[in-house]
Amino acid sequence: MATTRSRNQSIWRIKPIDIILKQGDETDKSLKRTLGPISITAMGVGAIVGTGIFVLTGIAAANYAGPGLILSFIVAGIASGLAAICYAEFASSVPISGSAYTYSYATLGEIVAWIIGWDLILEYAVGAAAVSIGWAGYFTDLFRGVLGIHIPVALTSTPFSGGIINLPAVIIILLITILLICGTSESSTFNNVVVSIKILVILFFIIIGIGHINPANWHPFLPYGAGGVFRGASIIFFAYIGFDQISTSAEEARNPSRDLPLGIITSLIICTILYISVTAVLTGMVSYTQLNVASPVSHALILIGLNIAGSIISVGALCGLTTVLLVLLYGQSRIFFAMARDGLLPGFFSHIHPRFRTPYLSSILVGIVVALVAGFTPIDIVAELTNIGTLAAFVLVSGAILILRKTQPDLRRKFRVPFVPVVPILSMLASLVLVVSLPLITIGRFIIWLILGLIVYFAYSKRTSHLERDRHVPAPPHDVIT
Ligand code: ALA
Repeated sequence: MATTRSRNQSIWRIKPIDIILKQGDETDKSLKRTLGPISITAMGVGAIVGTGIFVLTGIAAANYAGPGLILSFIVAGIASGLAAICYAEFASSVPISGSAYTYSYATLGEIVAWIIGWDLILEYAVGAAAVSIGWAGYFTDLFRGVLGIHIPVALTSTPFSGGIINLPAVIIILLITILLICGTSESSTFNNVVVSIKILVILFFIIIGIGHINPANWHPFLPYGAGGVFRGASIIFFAYIGFDQISTSAEEARNPSRDLPLGIITSLIICTILYISVTAVLTGMVSYTQLNVASPVSHALILIGLNIAGSIISVGALCGLTTVLLVLLYGQSRIFFAMARDGLLPGFFSHIHPRFRTPYLSSILVGIVVALVAGFTPIDIVAELTNIGTLAAFVLVSGAILILRKTQPDLRRKFRVPFVPVVPILSMLASLVLVVSLPLITIGRFIIWLILGLIVYFAYSKRTSHLERDRHVPAPPHDVIT
C-alpha cells in the first residue's frame, strides 16, 4: 500500500537551488571572492598533477600494466573527462561551495548528498594523506641524494613497512594547514607560482628524457595483458583526481558560472597531455620493471646517469605535490563548511575566522586527522580508497545530471552536457569499470565506510539537518512522494 509523506520530512528531501544560490550571497557566512579564471585553472592543475604521475605511475607500470600504462592513462582520462563534463554542468548551475555534495542536495535528495559528502572525505582527506606520503618519498630521496643525509627508516616509514611513523608526511600536512588558515588569497598566489614550477619541471623531464628513449623498453608493451591495463587505470586514476575540486571554490570565484566549467575542462586537458607524454618517456627510458620505487620519475633519470636532472625533478615534484596537498585540504575544509552550514555536521565546521575569513576550525580538525592517517598508513591503501570514493561520487554526479534534466529542465545552465542521456550514462559506466578493476579488499573497505556513514546520518545528521528544523513550513500540495 502506498503511503504519502511530506518530502521535506524524508531522507529524499532536497535543498532548493534558489536557497542554495541565495546562501552564496549571504555576507555573514560567505567567503571572500578573490579568484579569477587563471587562478581557478591553476588551482585545477595544482590539484591534479601530483602523486599520481610522480609516484603511482612507477608502481602501476612495474606491477600492473608495463608500458601499456600509456593506455591506462587514456582509459582513466576518458572516465575522468566524461565525469568532468557532468561536473561542469553542475558547477555552472549550482555555483556554490560543496562540490558534488551541494549539487546532489539540490537534485537527488539529502541522503544521496550525505553519501556523496561522505565519499568526498575519501577523495579529499584520504587523498591528501596519499599525496603527503608521495611527498615524503621524494623528500627523503632528495635529502639522501643531494645532502647525503639519511633520515632513519623509523621516521620515514609506517609500522606496516618496518618503521614507526612517516614524519615528513605528518609535518607537511601540518604546515599546509597553517597556510590555509591564513587565507585563500595568499594561498592562491602561492599556488600560481608553484604550479608554474611544476609544469616547467615536467616539461624539462619530457625534453631531457625524449632523447634517451630506447624503443626496446616498450616491448613487451602489454606484459600483464589487457586486464593489467584496466588494473593500472584503476590505480593511476588517482592522477586525475582534483578537477572537481575547482567547483568547491565557487564561493571564492569572481565569476563562477563562466570560470568553473572553463577551469575544469582546461585543466583536465592540460593534465592528460602531460601524463601520456611523461608515461611514454618514462617507460621508454628504462625498463618498467625498474620503476617500483618511491620516486620513479627522478629515479629513471638517475638510472641513466643524469643525477643533477634527477635532483631538479625531485625539487619540482616536491613543489607539485605541495600544491596538490594545498588544494585537497582546502577542498575538504570547504566541503565540511558546506555540510555544517546545512546542519548535517556540527556548527563549528562552519565557523569563519574573524580576521582571515577562512573556516579555520574545519581546517584544523582536517589537518590533524589527515596527518595521523598519513603518518601510519601505506600509500597503496589510501590511494585505492581515494579512488573508489571519488569514482562513487562520479557515478552519482553523472546520474544526477539525468535527473536534473527531468526535474528542473528550466534551470539556468551556462554549460550543458552534450548528447544527454548518452554522455552521463557512459560516464557512469566508465567509472564503474574502474571500480570493479580495483582489488576486492578495497571494495570491501569502501562498503564498510559507507555503512559507517549511514549510521552517522541516521543517528545524527538526519535530525540536525536544517531542512528538518524548518519542516514546520507546509510543503506545497504537489511536493509529495508516494
Ligand atoms: N591527482 C592528484 C595526484 O595525483 C590527487 O596527486
